[in-house]
Amino acid sequence: MKQVHFFNRHVDVALDLLNSHTAGKPFAPYLKSFFKEKKKYGGRDRKRISNLCYAWFRLGYSIPLDRREQIIGAYFILHSDRFVHPADVNSKFSEDWDQLDLKQRLHFMGVDVKDIFPLTGFVDFSDLEQFLLDQLEVRPTYFRKIHPGALNFQEDVDLIETDGTSIGSYSGQALNTLRTKGHIEIQDRSSQDVMRRLLPELQEPIWDCCAASGGKSLYILDETPREVFASDVRSSILRSLKERSKRHKSRLFIGQANVIKVDKVKFRRQDKTIMVDGDFFQTILVDAPCSGSGTWSRNPEFKPFLTQQDLDRYVQRQREIVKNAASFLKVGGKLIYLTCSVYQNENQAQLDFFESCGLQVETTGYHYGHLNQSDSMFYSVLVKK
Ligand SMILES: C[S@@+](CC[C@H](N)C(=O)[O-])C[C@H]1O[C@@H](n2cnc3c(N)ncnc32)[C@H](O)[C@@H]1O
Repeated sequence: MKQVHFFNRHVDVALDLLNSHTAGKPFAPYLKSFFKEKKKYGGRDRKRISNLCYAWFRLGYSIPLDRREQIIGAYFILHSDRFVHPADVNSKFSEDWDQLDLKQRLHFMGVDVKDIFPLTGFVDFSDLEQFLLDQLEVRPTYFRKIHPGALNFQEDVDLIETDGTSIGSYSGQALNTLRTKGHIEIQDRSSQDVMRRLLPELQEPIWDCCAASGGKSLYILDETPREVFASDVRSSILRSLKERSKRHKSRLFIGQANVIKVDKVKFRRQDKTIMVDGDFFQTILVDAPCSGSGTWSRNPEFKPFLTQQDLDRYVQRQREIVKNAASFLKVGGKLIYLTCSVYQNENQAQLDFFESCGLQVETTGYHYGHLNQSDSMFYSVLVKK
């Protein structure tokens, strides 16, 4: 009974955390600062409270009960708890709960699988139900790119995979330590796989026009001898790009630009400033702002909150970005459009509009990252006519 008492206390903490967290903001830093303040929670408490919260983000919100009951139901659907059996917490759970599979547990809790993901009508995968269940079952993993030349480091990390160029662990913290030591770079395995596939499409000069802190730019700089022009609308994120790209400063130009509005962009390199206008680029990479729905098995805290209006706003912004970016492209040059979304509105359904901007679709497809514990992405190579 003591264990049930502790369990219920943890549910109360999870409920408070979920009620006070701002919807749409990353949850991990919020949780981290909560535990930093509340020293009384040990490792086991933290793990359970965290699992209770994330179970709610993964599917709890779709259980037709109040939020406290949603948290408990979602937790027992997704986790076996060594210390409490669901039937000890609530008699509605059957004694043979552990024998039920995922679909039976969802059914028992009154969940329609289609409700565990927002706007499922727009998801572009043919086996929708399998995709939705994979989302729940896949254990979230962190993948990072190993710096060339740092292949032989020895660290005591809970590794799940390393193939020589990328490294994975269930512990984001362990990987942060490796990053601080300069061995690895933040980059999901799907981004690496997609970039590797697209490398032959790149011709100089290259503009990464939604570069953020430069994940894709750094990949190109690491893997090719090319010069890269990187920009983003947010100047704050460009500071982080500058920090991360020190080893490439002779080949990287950085600028700040809202791609929707500009007709010229000023780029700086350590020794040089270039003002770019007109059809200057041979390759433009648009890693577009999007719903992020392809990353939700890793970041489920964004899943319960996406609305149709949000999706429409992303679609509109993507169109405006591609349309104006294309005016910087030479005839015969390539615009590579990427999203980490699984919604057709942001992907295939955009292609007709892109063609109306004078771009011709050459290749397009999905990278099904959820099958190997990484993000799902959409890519399309468009050629300027
Ligand atoms: C998906 S993220 C890019 C991730 C990055 N390429 C990487 O590999 O880490 C999209 C980026 O687009 C930027 N963005 C959004 N609207 C923009 C605009 N109008 N012009 C330029 N950048 C924009 C956002 O600030 C965000 O950093």
